[in-house]
Amino acid sequence: MAKVKTGVYGATGYTGFEIIKRLQRHPHVSLRFATSQTYAGQSLGRVYPAGRDIPLVSEQDVPLDDVDAVFCCLPHAAGMTIVQKAGEAGARVIDLSADFRLADAADYQTWYGLEHAAPHLLPEAVYGLSEVNRQAIKATDLLANPGCYPTSILLALYPLLKAGLLAPDAPLISDSKSGVSGAGRKLSLKTHFVETSENLSPYNIGQTHRHLAEINQTLAALSETPPPVIFSPHLVPVNRGMLSTIYITLAADTPAAQARTLFTETYAAEPLVRVLPPGDLATFAHTQRTDTCAISVTAVDARHLILCSSIDNLGKGAAGQALQNFNIMFGFEETTGLFW
Ligand SMILES: NC(=O)c1ccc[n+]([C@@H]2O[C@H](COP(=O)([O-])OP(=O)(O)OC[C@H]3O[C@@H](n4cnc5c(N)ncnc54)[C@H](OP(=O)(O)O)[C@@H]3O)[C@@H](O)[C@H]2O)c1
Repeated sequence: MAKVKTGVYGATGYTGFEIIKRLQRHPHVSLRFATSQTYAGQSLGRVYPAGRDIPLVSEQDVPLDDVDAVFCCLPHAAGMTIVQKAGEAGARVIDLSADFRLADAADYQTWYGLEHAAPHLLPEAVYGLSEVNRQAIKATDLLANPGCYPTSILLALYPLLKAGLLAPDAPLISDSKSGVSGAGRKLSLKTHFVETSENLSPYNIGQTHRHLAEINQTLAALSETPPPVIFSPHLVPVNRGMLSTIYITLAADTPAAQARTLFTETYAAEPLVRVLPPGDLATFAHTQRTDTCAISVTAVDARHLILCSSIDNLGKGAAGQALQNFNIMFGFEETTGLFW
């Protein structure tokens, strides 16, 4: 079988390097290029001690007419014209940034404070929550890979959304924690070792975190009466990992066993989503350095549940889901190249 020819933009970033690790394990893929503006001319092994001897080239020098698919692992806005150019050259694009996640360019402007540079592409983009949107993902040439927090929250809510069991008028509260690599590799005071180590910091609480936009957009697509969401992200002093503890009010009295069955049935055939046995609670350790999601379901009473949903922010929250989506788009076994 001819290999699918791929390229990675932003190969020196945390998600870019994770994509490359997975592409190296994938038997049906060849890597045609890996870009870096800062390290062009050097090899990835010079940037990461565990990196391979992969040459880094600048964005201007890539053989775009010689790839079938590209992964765009750039900060939001930085990759918009690249996504457009790659699409025009005939490559299928998997974009890890937020640029094509929101269907409405006005929402992008509201949440990201920028005018969208390619609004005409938004109708073509498919939101790549793999387990939920598989059919649309197969057909798309522009895949908007979901954010890490939304992935952890939406996968936990999906069984209840499908069953119409979320109370429409009670707020749904997600108290979410992320490892520091969620902020990317660039230096900043907030992610400085001394600021994060032995500390726990809420940030962007009170309806200001940008991921709320895609959470609300997806809830509205999956429910006629989506509940209001209160989302409180926190930074925790670990390199990688993500845990959302979600407080749910149900629309009707539901025995605990019945609520759990919704989850086990929804994900019975899904290799990358694990519903934990009764009594077990999802932790960072359930998914760190894997491309899986682990969900625990705990009943408080007949009307309230606490869901704990764990992913690795760089795995199922970014590169793992991106490669899962690539596999769906190109017809490969979904877990090929993944860590699970
Ligand atoms: N980190 C996560 O957990 C996570 C999860 C889900 C989604 N994402 C999204 O994935 C994308 C990449 O995230 P990341 O964490 O991999 O970021 P990162 O570690 O900061 O890496 C981004 C890379 O892009 C390159 N780059 C090119 N143009 C740039 C520009 N104008 N400004 C800054 N960097 C530029 C940089 O490499 P050179 O300087 O070598 O060119 C940099 O290494 C982002 O859109 C992010 O929101 C991240």
